[in-house]
Amino acid sequence: MDIDFQPTTGLKDSIEQRRAARAFHPDPIPEVVLAEIFHLGLRSPSGYNLQPWRFIVVQSPESKETLQHCAFDQTQIAQAPVVLICCGDRTAIDQDNIEAVIKLGEDHQAMTKQYADYLRSQIPPFFDNAPSFGSMETWTNRHTMLAVAHLMIVAKSYGVDSCPMEGFVAAQVKEAFDIPDTVDVCCLLCLGYADEPFKHFGGRFSRDKVFYGERYGRPFRL
Ligand SMILES: Cc1cc2nc3c(=O)[nH]c(=O)nc-3n(C[C@H](O)[C@H](O)[C@H](O)COP(=O)(O)O)c2cc1C
Repeated sequence: MDIDFQPTTGLKDSIEQRRAARAFHPDPIPEVVLAEIFHLGLRSPSGYNLQPWRFIVVQSPESKETLQHCAFDQTQIAQAPVVLICCGDRTAIDQDNIEAVIKLGEDHQAMTKQYADYLRSQIPPFFDNAPSFGSMETWTNRHTMLAVAHLMIVAKSYGVDSCPMEGFVAAQVKEAFDIPDTVDVCCLLCLGYADEPFKHFGGRFSRDKVFYGERYGRPFRL
């Protein structure tokens, strides 16, 4: 379903107002809103456009109860109308997905024969060498979490709150939700309408602490 449905909150306010919600109203998220959040969330970038993220949309009370048991009984899971099990598929580097990316690019008039050949020849050795990540799990998490960040900000722009969660036992989630060995569970994402005054904003470190100039550790000033 593709509907041009405009957000109610601008980007700056969406970022500043997004908070991790620990309690949710039972109110459902309208389908048009969910469709738009998913649509825009998927505009997240990925290396070679391989898009390894996969999401299991959990809505039934039974499945949420199962998931809650895999997540140290965190109650926001049962309360949120929608919980995403955010996964990263290691097989996204396989030839069939490379061909699917090429086809997608062709459908969007964004693929030349040279670039298709470049992808076919460059992607396999890149992943053999893995120059910028130590494991495929790092690679799947890198990409999936970026998509999760998009989803959270887009959701907030439509008035939908979220809670990203790493407090779960991955092996239990994989077993309970039929997730194959080649797929990593990167995080859970509760979506819905917060039923709480949020805790006081915990703050963020200053720019000086986390931005460096030219070399790691050197001061950077604006
Ligand atoms: C990767 C990740 C994992 C998190 N895991 C949990 C979790 O398991 N349970 C929880 O209640 N909050 C979890 N949080 C929420 C953080 O505690 C929260 O984002 C942080 O305290 C900052 O608060 P804010 O998001 O409201 O600004 C997680 C956040 C991230 C980004």
